[in-house]
Amino acid sequence: MALRTYHSIYPQLGAGCYVDESSIIVGDVILEDDASIWPLVAARGDVNKIRIGQRSNVQDGSVLHVTRKSPQNPDGFPLIIGDDVTVGHKCMLHGCTLGNRILVGMGAIIMDGVVVEDDVFIGAGTLVPPNKRLESGYLYVGNPMQKKRPLNASERAFLKQSAVNYVNLKNEYLSQG
Ligand SMILES: CC(C)(COP(=O)(O)OP(=O)(O)OC[C@H]1O[C@@H](n2cnc3c(N)ncnc32)[C@H](O)[C@@H]1OP(=O)(O)O)[C@@H](O)C(=O)NCCC(=O)NCCS
Repeated sequence: MALRTYHSIYPQLGAGCYVDESSIIVGDVILEDDASIWPLVAARGDVNKIRIGQRSNVQDGSVLHVTRKSPQNPDGFPLIIGDDVTVGHKCMLHGCTLGNRILVGMGAIIMDGVVVEDDVFIGAGTLVPPNKRLESGYLYVGNPMQKKRPLNASERAFLKQSAVNYVNLKNEYLSQG
């Protein structure tokens, strides 16, 4: 069973969501319409909340977690993912906020308090240290990350196309029952 209760809070799924049965989604997690969760993802909304926007996809082996509220940090660090976001294979997203139309490359690590603005491409294997802000329209790569260059038109278009591709793919999976 992919969905589990924590402190009486059960994950909520919008219309048309796909969750692979090998993934584990716990507690205060909301998936908006047409979001998809692929094999072996762990999304643990226990000490704070996780939100995943419309048409966003979280690919195989990724780990999503959050940081608890404390006197020093009253909101803690929830994990907020916007619309049309692609999270590639084996990413680690911890207590960060992602806008819309973002691609997080395979194996990237994004740490607490990071804010990624809309329309950003994060290369495979990038480490984004705590509390950084990634500016809209740029490619970031490296460990620690470097702001590499502005995105070109085809890369910008691909951010949205990647989400469309995954909506189509999850629809195929859903139609097989
Ligand atoms: C970063 C990326 C977009 C390529 O960008 P690019 O500017 O076209 O890069 P190029 O292939 O022209 O390479 C330019 C340089 O960056 C390096 N580079 C490429 N990808 C890199 C990465 N992820 N991290 C660090 N350096 C990278 C190349 O080795 C090259 O270095 P060099 O100039 O010393 O030879 C691509 O490599 C990438 O990481 N895509 C993510 C794919 C992914 O994970 N998709 C999700 C899975 S579905």
